[in-house]
Amino acid sequence: MLLDFRTNMVQEANIKLDIKIPKDPVSKAMGTFYNPKMLSHRNITINAIKSFTQIKNKPIKIGLPLAGSGIRALRILNEISTENISEIAVNDIRENFIEDFQKSIKTNKLNSKKVSTHNQDANLFLLNNLGFDYIDLDPFGSPNQFLAAVVARINRKGIIAITATDTAALAGTYPKACKRKYWASPLKNHLMHELGLRILIRKVQLQGVQFGKALTPILSYHKDHYYRIFFQSSSGKEKCNNIQTQHQYFLYNPKTLESKISKINYWEAKSNKEFQVAGPLWTGPLHDKTFIKTIIKKNDFNSEVKLLRSLQTEAENPNIIGFIDSHILAKKYKIKVPTNELLLNIKGTWRTQFSETAIKTKLQPVELIKKLKT
Ligand SMILES: C[S@@+](CC[C@H](N)C(=O)[O-])C[C@H]1O[C@@H](n2cnc3c(N)ncnc32)[C@H](O)[C@@H]1O
Repeated sequence: MLLDFRTNMVQEANIKLDIKIPKDPVSKAMGTFYNPKMLSHRNITINAIKSFTQIKNKPIKIGLPLAGSGIRALRILNEISTENISEIAVNDIRENFIEDFQKSIKTNKLNSKKVSTHNQDANLFLLNNLGFDYIDLDPFGSPNQFLAAVVARINRKGIIAITATDTAALAGTYPKACKRKYWASPLKNHLMHELGLRILIRKVQLQGVQFGKALTPILSYHKDHYYRIFFQSSSGKEKCNNIQTQHQYFLYNPKTLESKISKINYWEAKSNKEFQVAGPLWTGPLHDKTFIKTIIKKNDFNSEVKLLRSLQTEAENPNIIGFIDSHILAKKYKIKVPTNELLLNIKGTWRTQFSETAIKTKLQPVELIKKLKT
């Protein structure tokens, strides 16, 4: 494949970076490059680290095993107060990574006192370290091959931030790949991204519980072509057991749009012919209310307000798996498509990050239709 790049000095949030930028859609074959589409991803990361350091009230040790162009590390150095960082260890396997990164530090006149740079396989880099308070795992595609080392090296009460860009597997385009890689069955319908996100959460949690680490999602979202989850780690058998009791199946009836959560095994669930089955997946909350509140207070990026508000709405309402889409509801129940405003006027409904034409509610579709008609 002939790859087409422009080489440029790019600027992101006051950081200057001499790097190639892809002209065409991003793919793994491109190697390391600057991806402008991940700007929002990095803005939220900065907010999350600021919030974490405020909550922790102690300098944190940061590990970036897949640092890529280095833009995230440079932004952390520029935007997070030095006194809140005890060390930042930055790693990437690519050739010349250390030279390029050090050049960028100089170009941007950043303080490198707390920085260590590494040029190793990410798993070796992680395992050669004693432990981190914050690890950011941002791979091309699936995070799977690095999960064990990340989980092994996260400190008590530390935060792991994980990205997955292989949404095609998680969201049901390739169900066999989802089973192989994430040990669960996806569903390819309008709910696919929430279900995919929850399948990924469970997969990461399973890596944790085997080592006695309970990984609780404190911020989880789907945007563009990726999933992103921030987990807080804590230790103990009870906490791990509690995580595992929230790994269940999601049952969905495409005729009535009814849905439910089920503890029974996949084949029993599947024998209930009216329902399609996804899972096992995480059925607990996607966010922590206090964490999101702190993030919103710290947020200086206008471009992220909308996303953060929708995550806050989800965090402040009951944890419901799935949502009701107004167009699908109208088609199935042969009614005029209700506006979202109309649906949101019904008591017990609220917005969701997953669709602008959908609402979350405890009500089943038939009950919602009744309320729409009164
Ligand atoms: C998606 S990019 C990282 C983007 C970066 N976090 C950012 O914010 O711009 C993934 C990076 O992982 C690196 N990588 C891939 N496999 C690796 C491995 N086994 N060990 C270390 N780095 C690896 C690649 O060189 C690439 O730079």
